[in-house]
Amino acid sequence: MRLVFLGPPGAGKGTQAAKLADHLGVPRISTGDILRRNVADGTDLGKRAKGYMEAGTLVPDDLVIEMTKRRLAEPDAKKGFILDGFPRTIAQAEVLAKLTPLDAVVDFYLEPEELIKRNSGRRVCPKCEAVYHVLSNAPRKPGICDRCGSTVVTRPDDREEVVRTRIETYENQTSPLIQYYKDRGLLREVYASGLIDEVVLRVREALSP
Ligand code: AP5
Repeated sequence: MRLVFLGPPGAGKGTQAAKLADHLGVPRISTGDILRRNVADGTDLGKRAKGYMEAGTLVPDDLVIEMTKRRLAEPDAKKGFILDGFPRTIAQAEVLAKLTPLDAVVDFYLEPEELIKRNSGRRVCPKCEAVYHVLSNAPRKPGICDRCGSTVVTRPDDREEVVRTRIETYENQTSPLIQYYKDRGLLREVYASGLIDEVVLRVREALSP
């Protein structure tokens, strides 16, 4: 399966992509995670991306496109992939269309106030990138990653004012992709409210032939 997961910040794309990628045996390719790794490692790309990410705006197309092309060329992506957070502009979608065909694009939608709650309660593991929520998806031992035992942290772009900018950025620059993929017959809409496992079932149903 070659899939794209689309949706506003905090809708649950990453959570669902991780589960489905395990189920399908394909890699989850999160451009947000790759960029955060570059910021943490202080690479040239990370230095150029950091300011945009902290402000809640998009990293310029040329940087993200080059990075994603390289990732898609790795051997594990040959058997399929879930792209989580790419494309985010029509220009990125046009490049992706030239690189690979897609089987479907899943668009997650959720009310803005729910998005704020999901982002503000999110905690992430800086070491293994596991994602938690203080209320709906808490680690077994408060503040400690279940998988690797590191202390979980709040993402710098999860402050409420930055989340609001990220939602605006999504509406202005990314949401036109909904019509773009509808026109190409690839769009599957999934309501992202409810328990994580309920959304898992909706995703499977949306993708069933
Ligand atoms: P990125 O990391 O992709 O951020 P995002 O799109 O804003 O998405 P999030 O990671 O915030 O949310 P999500 O939908 O994955 O939700 P999650 O599963 O974590 O990008 C960060 C930045 O990088 C961008 O702002 C931009 O600057 C840059 N960037 C990345 N890609 C780019 C691109 N292509 N072009 C240009 N710039 C790019 O869930 C959220 C929370 O809710 C978690 O706490 C989770 O535990 C909880 N949760 C999940 N599902 C449920 C549920 N069903 N019920 C209750 N809680 C739930």
